[in-house]
Amino acid sequence: MTPRGEKDEAEVVSGIFKGKTTGAPVTILIYNRDVDSTPYEELKDKPRPGHADYTARVRYGGYNDYRGGGRFSGRITAAYTAAGAVAKKLLGTIDVETLAHTVQVGSVTLDREVTVDEIRRNVYANPVRCADPDVAELMMREIEKAAGEGDSVGGVLEGLALNVPPGWGFPIFDSLDADLARMLFNIPGVKGVEFGSGFRAASMRGSENNDQYAIVNGKVVTTTNNSGGILGGLSNGMPIKIRVAFKPPSSIRIPQRTVDLAEMKETVLELKGRHDPCIVPRAVPVVESCIALVLADHALRIGAIPQVLKSEH
Ligand SMILES: Cc1cc2nc3c(=O)[nH]c(=O)nc-3n(C[C@H](O)[C@H](O)[C@H](O)COP(=O)(O)O)c2cc1C
Repeated sequence: MTPRGEKDEAEVVSGIFKGKTTGAPVTILIYNRDVDSTPYEELKDKPRPGHADYTARVRYGGYNDYRGGGRFSGRITAAYTAAGAVAKKLLGTIDVETLAHTVQVGSVTLDREVTVDEIRRNVYANPVRCADPDVAELMMREIEKAAGEGDSVGGVLEGLALNVPPGWGFPIFDSLDADLARMLFNIPGVKGVEFGSGFRAASMRGSENNDQYAIVNGKVVTTTNNSGGILGGLSNGMPIKIRVAFKPPSSIRIPQRTVDLAEMKETVLELKGRHDPCIVPRAVPVVESCIALVLADHALRIGAIPQVLKSEH
């Protein structure tokens, strides 16, 4: 999905000793090696429509590092996944699992419910990270078509968290859904986050949207999951289900109108450089990680994972 060739080698520089965390912050460095800053010189004064070039220039008075998009590059999410790897390990100690998969690319949608097994098995076996291999083919063609036309496409990811016990969350302002949405909106390119039936709930009747209760194996469950596993900002024990909408990335080869801020004149931008025609597949591990980070924080705060470990010495 990307013409850039980063090896993504992670170097742990603090916080781990003899294979275990020490209690000091875990610092992981991932260097950008495949760098080409030349195409960004033109963007210094000619902001890309749809990217953060103009807003960053205004906010930081032109001192922002515009090379590669600077801190507004999707590259920043490599660090989210490094932190997410640690969060996933913490959550693994209490059997909480986070998953994500592609459910829409441009006009191609995954129209059926896929099983958790299909997600676990298939997502990392195809380049678009869709749980249905046939739909994955169609998604790939959709991306190739847009890329061939010098354009880009957006899409939707579904994020899941399994085995989250009921009762997590700190209403009102640290509600579980509010914290998850806050983190997910810090992924560049995210334009929508919905839980369960989400925006569809607006056109549903209460009788349709309410998740009715039942007892299965002595546990309270709901027979549907329109809430997406969160009610009143608290987990209800059902899978947490989130849909995350990504815009089509803004850096496209098609010429577009912009302005030359040095000369204060209108001009046309014909973009060169190496850009992703669709960021959705690359965001799958990022969404998994962001969900894991928020849940690990909540697990520690609520005491589901002990903060003080028993000494082995
Ligand atoms: C993994 C990843 C890769 C991205 N790659 C690109 C890219 O190649 N070209 C681009 O224009 N935007 C890319 N983006 C999106 C931009 O970083 C984002 O649109 C920009 O920072 C503006 O922020 P906003 O879209 O959230 O408003 C990427 C995002 C992610 C998460």
